[in-house]
Amino acid sequence: MTTTLRTRVAIVGAGPAGLLLSHLLDEAGIDSIVVDLRTRGEIESTIRAGILEQGTVELLDRLGKHSRARTVGHRHDGIELRFQGEGHRIDFPSLTGRSAWLYPQHEVLKDLIAARVAAEQDLRFGITVTAIDDTDPLRPLVIATDADGDELVIEADVVVGADGSRSVVRPTVTGSSQGGYFREYPFAWFGILCEAPPSSEELIYSNSPDGFALISQRSATVQRMYFQCDPELDPDSLSEEQIWVEMQKRVPGTTLLEGPIFQRDVLRFRSFVAHAMRKGRVAIIGDAAHTVPPTGAKGMNLAVADVALLHEALRALLLEGDERLIDSFEERALQRIWKAQHFSWWMTTMLHVTDDASDFDRRRQLGELRSVVESTAGQTYLAEAYTGWPLPSAE
Ligand code: DHB
Repeated sequence: MTTTLRTRVAIVGAGPAGLLLSHLLDEAGIDSIVVDLRTRGEIESTIRAGILEQGTVELLDRLGKHSRARTVGHRHDGIELRFQGEGHRIDFPSLTGRSAWLYPQHEVLKDLIAARVAAEQDLRFGITVTAIDDTDPLRPLVIATDADGDELVIEADVVVGADGSRSVVRPTVTGSSQGGYFREYPFAWFGILCEAPPSSEELIYSNSPDGFALISQRSATVQRMYFQCDPELDPDSLSEEQIWVEMQKRVPGTTLLEGPIFQRDVLRFRSFVAHAMRKGRVAIIGDAAHTVPPTGAKGMNLAVADVALLHEALRALLLEGDERLIDSFEERALQRIWKAQHFSWWMTTMLHVTDDASDFDRRRQLGELRSVVESTAGQTYLAEAYTGWPLPSAE
């Protein structure tokens, strides 16, 4: 049995990018259908990063009462860069007039899903997209199988792939499943969630001879922390005691408050930018189009920035028949994407230690850190990038 649906924008992927796009399109009276392979429960419980740029929080304000970023999340006015046993605070408001918010991505997803459900969005879980058919360039099709194994075809004016780093939409846009600029790093992060009070009020990004650690938070009783590790490390191979030893030695000069560890994972580092973000009326955004290493937490924020541009372009295209913004979408999106790629690469290479680093490399790295914390210009670059460059006017 085949069900055929018709909508203006078919969105593959109910992550932050897909859901926010459907919300902003709905505000403009443009209907969409959002499909995702995962269940709602899976989407709402996957642990991801926790930092929102100021512009991301401002866009989420448009969810009205559904956004809890400002009420449940916490405004952070600075971070600490720690090296050679000393902490150096970067104060965001005095440098940029902006802040960042600590509010985990799965909470953002709960808010977005609640808002879309309340607005009666056509939002379908458990849908496997098998192909995009763009034979008719003005009427692309999403071909899928639903949870019961029945075929689902969605006919749209525009198809958007917001379906993550293993995007099924990407090959339609780039011509091959890889189709991009790519870089891997020789390390990963060992991430934990633990039951403990915060060790610090603000995030600590720590460089040490033993490698990097990030001390983040989640709440008064739950903390998120990461330490640099080998990408091949099995997360279950370390005892809790060993994890604390590894964590503590990467933040010399700070004593971490320890507690039971209830979640652990190893996050690989990749940088990727697709060769193309649009082909005709099929576009890719968020992780489908680019991946950043986690240092600096740009991933979700970059997805939101893509949406800020794409929804304006779709409004112009679908409401006024004006193609100028969709034609310039990729070029404008890529400017920010490459700035964020640079920032994520820079934070990563400045803070991590590689096995093959020479004495020269190590001393140079400390010189680099010192030239950031001892210079207002250096601190300002970091603060601007961290709190987020301005988004295009979102109205
Ligand atoms: C978190 C993750 C990051 O990659 C980062 O730079 C800051 C915070 C987090 O999960 O809390």
